[in-house]
Amino acid sequence: MKRILSGSRPTGRTHIGHLFGALSNWAKLQDTYECFFEVADIHALTTSINKEEMRPVIRELVADWIACGIDPKKSTLFIQSLVPQHSELHLFLSMIMPVNWLKQNPTLKDRMRNYAPPTKEDTTTTEITEDLYSNLNYGLLGYPVLQAADILIYKANAVPVGEDQLPHIEMTREIARKFNNAYGNIFPEPESIVNTTTRVPGLDGRKMSKSLNNTITIDESFESIKSKISQAFTDPLKIRKTDPGHTDGCIVFAYHKLINSEAIPLIKKECEEGTRGCVSCKAECSGAMNKFIEPFREKRAQININDIDNILEEGSKKAKEVASATIKEIKEAMKLW
Ligand code: TRP
Repeated sequence: MKRILSGSRPTGRTHIGHLFGALSNWAKLQDTYECFFEVADIHALTTSINKEEMRPVIRELVADWIACGIDPKKSTLFIQSLVPQHSELHLFLSMIMPVNWLKQNPTLKDRMRNYAPPTKEDTTTTEITEDLYSNLNYGLLGYPVLQAADILIYKANAVPVGEDQLPHIEMTREIARKFNNAYGNIFPEPESIVNTTTRVPGLDGRKMSKSLNNTITIDESFESIKSKISQAFTDPLKIRKTDPGHTDGCIVFAYHKLINSEAIPLIKKECEEGTRGCVSCKAECSGAMNKFIEPFREKRAQININDIDNILEEGSKKAKEVASATIKEIKEAMKLW
C-alpha cells in the first residue's frame, strides 16, 4: 500500500476551508493509502511563542478531524513533537539546503510581508528588504525543511494539501532529489494531491482563516451560520432586489456553488435578472450550509475529548517506529556512527 502523510498546525478550530481544501481528501484517501496525519505543533512555534497551553487546542483539532471522517482505526494520528526523529532529519536536511532556496519560498515572502509596518493595508505588494530579514527567525526560514522532514521520514508517496502548500511540496521533492543524489536512493519523491476546484473564500472575501475572523467552523450552530452569512460580502452594486447582480466575486454565490450546486443555474439567473434579493439568497444559503454542516456537527458532539490523548499516544508510538527505521537507514547512508 502506498503511503500518505499530511498535517496541520494546531492554530484553532477546523473550518470549511480546511474541510474542502484538504480534510475531505484525507478522509477519502484512507481506504487506498496507509495514512499518517500529523499535528504540526513544532511548526506552530515558527510564528508564535506558546503563551497558552497547546494541549486543549490539539485535542479540539483532532476531535474535528475525526468528525470530518478521519478514522483513527484506519489512519495514524500523531503529534510532531512526540516523534523527535522529525527534528533529527530536519537537521540533517538543513546541511544540504541552499539558503537562497529558502529565501525564495513564496510562503515565507507572504509571512514576511506581514511583518511590514501595519499602517499598510495592502501588504501583498510590500517589497522585501534586507531590513525585513532582520526580524526573521531561523525556524521560520527553515519551515519547509521541517515540512520536508515530516514527509520524507515516512517515505510518503503522496501528500494531500490545500493549494497554498504546493510550494512546500515542490521543495520537498527537490530536497528528496538532492539528498538521493548525495547519499543514494532513499526517499521517494512525493506527489501532491490537491483539490483545486474548491477554494473556499472567507466571509469577507479574503482567504478563510481563523486569524481574519472570517470562518465557518465544521460545527457552527444554525443561529451562528445565519448571522455570519447575513453579513457575508456580496455584489456591492446590487443594492435593491431588482438591481441586476453579478455572481463573480459574491461570497454567498461561492458558498452556494460548494453546497447547493444543483440550484446554481436558477440562482445565477434570478440574481442577474433582478428577481432574487440578497436577503433571501443569504437565507437560502444559510439553510443549505446548515444542512451541509449538520452531520459534522452531530458527529463532533458525540466525540469524547478524553479519548483523544490515547489516540494520539498510540499513533505517535506507531509513527515513531516507522520514523526510527528511516533514521537508522539515513545515518548509515550518511556514514554517521
Ligand atoms: N505547513 C502545513 C500548513 O500550514 C502544515 C504541515 C506541516 C504539513 N507539516 C506538513 C502539511 C507535512 C503536509 C505535510 O498547513
